[in-house]
Amino acid sequence: MTTSALRLVDIQKGVVNRSIFISEELYKQELEQVFGRCWLLVGHESQVSKPNDFAATYMGEDPILLTRDSKGKLHAFLNMCRHRGNRICRADAGNAPSFMCTYHGWTFATDGKLVGVPGYKEAYFEELDRSQWGLVEAGQIDSYKGLVFATWDKTAPSLRDYLGDAAWYMDLLVDRREGGTELLNGVHKWVLKANWKFGADNFGGDNYHFPITHGSSVTVRGNARSFSAPINSQPERVNVNAGNGHTILGRYIGEGDSNNDQSGARSVDYFNSIKPEVKQRLGDARSRQGSFGIATVFPNFTWHGGPMVRLWHPRGPAQMEVWSYCIVDKAAPQELKDMMRQNLTNSFGPSGFTEQDDMNNWLQCTATARSRKALEYVMNIQMGKGHERKSEMIPGQLSSNVSETNQRAFYSRWAEIMAAPSWAQIHIDPRTK
Ligand code: FES
Ligand SMILES: [Fe+2]
Repeated sequence: MTTSALRLVDIQKGVVNRSIFISEELYKQELEQVFGRCWLLVGHESQVSKPNDFAATYMGEDPILLTRDSKGKLHAFLNMCRHRGNRICRADAGNAPSFMCTYHGWTFATDGKLVGVPGYKEAYFEELDRSQWGLVEAGQIDSYKGLVFATWDKTAPSLRDYLGDAAWYMDLLVDRREGGTELLNGVHKWVLKANWKFGADNFGGDNYHFPITHGSSVTVRGNARSFSAPINSQPERVNVNAGNGHTILGRYIGEGDSNNDQSGARSVDYFNSIKPEVKQRLGDARSRQGSFGIATVFPNFTWHGGPMVRLWHPRGPAQMEVWSYCIVDKAAPQELKDMMRQNLTNSFGPSGFTEQDDMNNWLQCTATARSRKALEYVMNIQMGKGHERKSEMIPGQLSSNVSETNQRAFYSRWAEIMAAPSWAQIHIDPRTK
């Protein structure tokens, strides 16, 4: 059963069977093999900075409570009462020393222990072993510079090994400045009738769509100039296959090259002003580049320098729930933080200029996969195959910014993990920088 996934993704030919976007059977397997085993983003330390802080999220379809217990330790628990299975917490975020289930009142502390059972003496005759009925906890939890990840799988490699070279690029999002980053208030959430992989694929590797999909919104906003360049005429723009299924869209400013970013983004002044600090913290190569701006960490965590952290939560093969957070440098001035939040809302989110364009395409790509006839024809990810290159300056496999190297990396990782019986059979690319 599991090896069938390898037949659906043929990287040599550069084709993918569309059933991976619509099959119920593959979806169930995905929840187990991909979301049940990979490291998944569960939040940011700024959401749970104080003892007894909590924030709700999901790992796949599993409702999760991220908590910081009274001693300061982070936990990721299944948000489920161990009695009948009621949600133990309905709030998105807050601070509470314990969670009382609204059904019969079992009460759990922020370290997961079952600390209260109504009728423990009179109804259970003190025979219930409360130590065995605490909250179900993730197999591993760890942070990378403020971003908190968890996996159900105790045998998964360490988070650092899992991230590999993607961490080098992620530093440009989370480690630019002293004090790191924080999430601004709240989460933007919406449901979309599209397979989650379309979002992950697009943000981690698809510059090809930009002038076409976003042509009208870019024109309306009056900054069409930067998108009118002929395809692949900007050698400093690259796609990076960072290994382990992680893919990045970025800019690569070599020594002597100038940063010719004409995007006119209002935050450019800020990023220029912090370059000396970035150089001191992250070195020359990363301070010189424009931005390694958009990426997908396999499977469903996307970041966008614009400034967004996003999760593509699966909700069945033909539906996803998008969760989008605004992430900013803690040390940035408030005015800049406000501006970045506004920029993000203008572009992304259910009513964002560019987001609406994207969503419409992903909906249709998912809908057509329902067609019996469409399933007879494979999806094409052949662009730029064999034209990848390496650089001494930055890690990973580089390709032109309009190529499908990153799609091949993403879908082949998906197939590998879907086919492997355990982590022992899944390769890990080491971190090289
Ligand atoms: S379901 Fe939670 S106490 Fe019964
Ligand atoms: Fe887009």
